[in-house]
Amino acid sequence: MSNTYAACLAAEPRSAANNRYLDLLRDCIIGSIRPERYRRLINQPWWFAPISKALGRVGFELVRKASYDPRLREEGLDWPANAESMIGRKRMDNLRFCIESALEDRVPGDFIEAGVWRGGAAIFMRGVLKANDVRNRLVWVADSFEGLPAPDPKYSADAGDRHSTLKDMGVSLEEVQRNFENYGLLDHNVRFLKGWFCDTLAKAPIDRLALMRLDGDMYGSTMDSLEALYPRLCVGGYVIIDDYNLPGARQATDDYRLRHGITESIQRVDWTGVYWRRSTAAYDGG
Ligand SMILES: C[S@@+](CC[C@H](N)C(=O)[O-])C[C@H]1O[C@@H](n2cnc3c(N)ncnc32)[C@H](O)[C@@H]1O
Repeated sequence: MSNTYAACLAAEPRSAANNRYLDLLRDCIIGSIRPERYRRLINQPWWFAPISKALGRVGFELVRKASYDPRLREEGLDWPANAESMIGRKRMDNLRFCIESALEDRVPGDFIEAGVWRGGAAIFMRGVLKANDVRNRLVWVADSFEGLPAPDPKYSADAGDRHSTLKDMGVSLEEVQRNFENYGLLDHNVRFLKGWFCDTLAKAPIDRLALMRLDGDMYGSTMDSLEALYPRLCVGGYVIIDDYNLPGARQATDDYRLRHGITESIQRVDWTGVYWRRSTAAYDGG
């Protein structure tokens, strides 16, 4: 190590180095530091399938050329071809703000994301905790790891919903674990809950939560997550709803808040992300 480099390191306070680490981690996870020049093909006409399959057999993949627009990535408006999260910079910054605010105010409990796709936002959660030297809190990573469910007839708001047909939404548990590992953030403080939210969340051995980030897109997925997790959210803890712009997720959020008399005001993050901070335990669900 050169003397100048060593002097620079010595001169930089830990908090500044942490900030730089977390900004870099965020930008890697959303893919803004290495913009892609192509986009994967999602939900193409039926006749693409045989062509894709044939190309796949000889080691090729059919993709679409695309130019990178940083404004879209800022708002999570494009699906990155390779990056680990699709939520964009503003929602990542909001996630960090909520985690650090809960830590600063000593709100007890773990952190969870329900709906992780390639794992990016949950990886970032673990990174923020690590950068803040937090060793006694878990990050829960909940997903089917096979995409969204077919609409449950119990939830009429999801009738006709086609999210379950989006094959690109199914990312395996192994791939998500590998993504954690690639960032050096897979350790005993990360716990995976594999399965449909209606089967896994209520019985998960989670005691208290300081933050719950819900990104399940549909009415049923959002409602199942709120019902299982909100009663465990501590006062001072945060709820983040990624998909408030989607009619199903918004309806589920509004229905749940109304049913349980939750009046904390909803704060906007960007065109779809919202959050609120739990200010009272006095509601009928716990
Ligand atoms: C929009 S993606 C999540 C994006 C992710 N948060 C990110 O940082 O890019 C939605 C995810 O929710 C999962 N999901 C939706 N509903 C679910 C349910 N009812 N049970 C289990 N997983 C579900 C899907 O498998 C998918 O991985």
